Amino acid sequence: MIRQAVPADHPRIHAIRMGVRENILTDPSLVTEEEVDWYREHAIFLVAEEAGEIVAFTCANHQNGLVWALFVDPEREGRGHGRALLDAALTKLKAAGNAQAWLTTGANTRAERFYRRHGWRDMGHSLDGQIVFIKTLA
Ligand SMILES: CC(C)(COP(=O)(O)OP(=O)(O)OC[C@H]1O[C@@H](n2cnc3c(N)ncnc32)[C@H](O)[C@@H]1OP(=O)(O)O)[C@@H](O)C(=O)NCCC(=O)NCCS
Repeated sequence: MIRQAVPADHPRIHAIRMGVRENILTDPSLVTEEEVDWYREHAIFLVAEEAGEIVAFTCANHQNGLVWALFVDPEREGRGHGRALLDAALTKLKAAGNAQAWLTTGANTRAERFYRRHGWRDMGHSLDGQIVFIKTLA
């Protein structure tokens, strides 16, 4: 089940973000509470539940097409949560008028392979060494 995130979800969302084994948040101060609240209150912030527990989440910016976050509990990978959440976020980005979505991710990760399989186009590396991917929202 996919639904809108609410403030009470934050402890579980935080635990998933800190529990992933790739694209690890090395400096937690880079993600502020204000940013997280903004995504929940003004942009796109969705969670996926399995048996009543949050197992994955995504955040996207309807103003510029950025998929800011997509994280699945490592114990629940490979069950379609990533794909379902990303599809839902892209549908919302398109409905908000975006012709293209974009994101950055670490090289040589499961996420890199995941985005390539799902038709994202590699635009090369950003200054911080991440791969920039774009996708046309047809
Ligand atoms: C990258 C990431 C988001 C993928 O999420 P996921 O939920 O494991 O991905 P999915 O299950 O949707 O798809 C992965 C593969 O699992 C398999 N799969 C999908 N649904 C499945 C199901 N119902 N049952 C069994 N296997 C399934 C498929 O092989 C699928 O590949 P396909 O989409 O080409 O068919 C997740 O691994 C993750 O959070 N990684 C760590 C954090 C990270 O790097 N995030 C990205 C930051 S930019």
